[in-house]
Amino acid sequence: MSADIYHEMIVDYSRNPLNFGRLEDPHATFHDSNPLCGDSIGIDLRVEDGSVSGITFHGKGCAICMACSSVLTEMAKGKTVEEVRRIGKDDVLGELGLEHLQAVRIKCALLSLKVLKSALYGYIAEKGGDTGSLKEDAAGLY
Ligand code: FES
Repeated sequence: MSADIYHEMIVDYSRNPLNFGRLEDPHATFHDSNPLCGDSIGIDLRVEDGSVSGITFHGKGCAICMACSSVLTEMAKGKTVEEVRRIGKDDVLGELGLEHLQAVRIKCALLSLKVLKSALYGYIAEKGGDTGSLKEDAAGLY
């Protein structure tokens, strides 16, 4: 896809974000902020039969942050917990052609992934499951 199309997608997702809002009775919820700009994103998650049956995000962020939160929540929908924990930064960046994003904007793009991994960590830990390297994966994103 061309850079123009990716740019259009980012602008469109930022104006009309997907999965934006709050879930009733989430099984896990987490939020975090980008210390550079103060923008913050929260994610609510519902898990049924081992798969993500509901996921939304809320908060505020720049266009890249909102677009990445949109594609990430779309990506996670319906996936098993195991599949969601394997979503990596290249998956999110690649979806919007952001592989060569400047270091200063990486936090904008990966904030929601960090939040999702942290929410998942909380969910699995509460169930007494094996959280593996989730916490370190979240902390090591940027
Ligand atoms: Fe705040 Fe991008 S400038 S998340």
